[in-house]
Amino acid sequence: MVAKNVSSLPGPPEEVLIIYGGQPLRGTVRVSGAKNAALPLMAASILFDKPFVVHNVPDLGDVKTMMELLRVLGIRAEKNNTILTLVPGNNGAAEAPYELVKKMRASILVLGPLTARRGTAVVALPGGCSIGTRPVDLHIKGLQALGATISLEKGNIIARARRLKGAHIVLDFATVTGTENLVMAAVLAEGETVIENAAREPEVVELCEFLRACGAIIEGIGTDILHIKGVNTLSPPSEWHLMPDRIEAGTLLVAGALAGEPLRVEGLVPEHLSAVLDKLRTAGVELELGDKTITVWRSSQPRPASIKTAPYPGFPTDMQAQFAVLLSLADGESIIHETIFENRFQYVPELVRMGAQIDVEGTTAFIKGVKRLTGAPVTATDLRASASLVLAGLVAEGESVIYEVGHLDRGYEKLENKLQSVGARIERKIKSE
Ligand code: UD1
Repeated sequence: MVAKNVSSLPGPPEEVLIIYGGQPLRGTVRVSGAKNAALPLMAASILFDKPFVVHNVPDLGDVKTMMELLRVLGIRAEKNNTILTLVPGNNGAAEAPYELVKKMRASILVLGPLTARRGTAVVALPGGCSIGTRPVDLHIKGLQALGATISLEKGNIIARARRLKGAHIVLDFATVTGTENLVMAAVLAEGETVIENAAREPEVVELCEFLRACGAIIEGIGTDILHIKGVNTLSPPSEWHLMPDRIEAGTLLVAGALAGEPLRVEGLVPEHLSAVLDKLRTAGVELELGDKTITVWRSSQPRPASIKTAPYPGFPTDMQAQFAVLLSLADGESIIHETIFENRFQYVPELVRMGAQIDVEGTTAFIKGVKRLTGAPVTATDLRASASLVLAGLVAEGESVIYEVGHLDRGYEKLENKLQSVGARIERKIKSE
């Protein structure tokens, strides 16, 4: 029986997810639009005067935060189901306030377009970061190369430029939002910009293709060298369809792999998932690929695997926590080496509470496969950690209660409804109920 009364359980959050594990997942589940493609596209609205409509926009905390931020910047943002209408305007502030930036680091995406279009941008520094160090130094250096003057005042990055000028930028690291910020700045700069070691993630490609549909001149899309010729004005297409979320797709595939029965995940782009599919195959998971669908199932205990995260087309850091659950049930020892973010194993102590055997040394997790996980109350620490706890709850024996589900809602659209529709016993409860 799924517990009805959670008020006696520890923890202050208002909402929890309750999962009764071990149910088979069968049927078809559809992937929503990509969060990490939606956010830069929304920030790009700063670059135009004309309204436009984006289809397939997921209903997520981060999308809501970006809508709030755009409103502060004078852009009307209205969402009706998955249809987002953006009506640009130049009458708002040129400032991204701390209250919003601290909710979502991707707020930094307005820095480039604001500087390029309005000549001035004030963006609060994401918490705990200082100029010159992670995680926005490359955004700042790139904008400086394009001729912006940058200062740091009262916790804000302040960028100013009469008109940005094309430059040759070599990124020290293929930063995703950094590349997006600089592309959005360079499309309106005077002259040509070259960005070397640009990120090649599908979401960067989507932004570049969108900007090209707006009249931007960008060559090398999908490679690590982007050539951009600045133009004076851009005008958006009246409509745009957003790509599917490859991380949500990957998460659902791991859910299917864990449950074992055939689960069809539809509305995805299989090529975006190559590295993830490779590791699923290594783990002994069966896959049948269609044009926009993948069916996943498993007939034996998962096999161990060795995973190293890397920029695209490597294995995504946003998928390693989910794989840790699958590999926790493998027949042997696995290794996950995290190379992008040093603090991405916060979910490990929670999985250990559910019976996983994982040791973390620095940026490497050593996983010893166990026969089963057991349900427990656990707390989500970040977005992808929360997804891994849901997956663990689905396969664990008995009941799990997941606290701090706000993290999940930032990046997964109605995940519990989608999982319920294919047979999971998962429900959301308000603590005061
Ligand atoms: C984006 C994704 C996030 C994903 C990450 C890596 C969005 C909104 N978010 O985040 O889901 O996990 O890519 O695939 O698209 N770095 C610096 N200086 C900088 C910028 C980055 O040192 O100026 C470092 C970061 O600390 C990190 C690495 O570069 O170690 C990669 O970060 P980056 O690609 O910038 O991640 P985000 O764009 O923030």
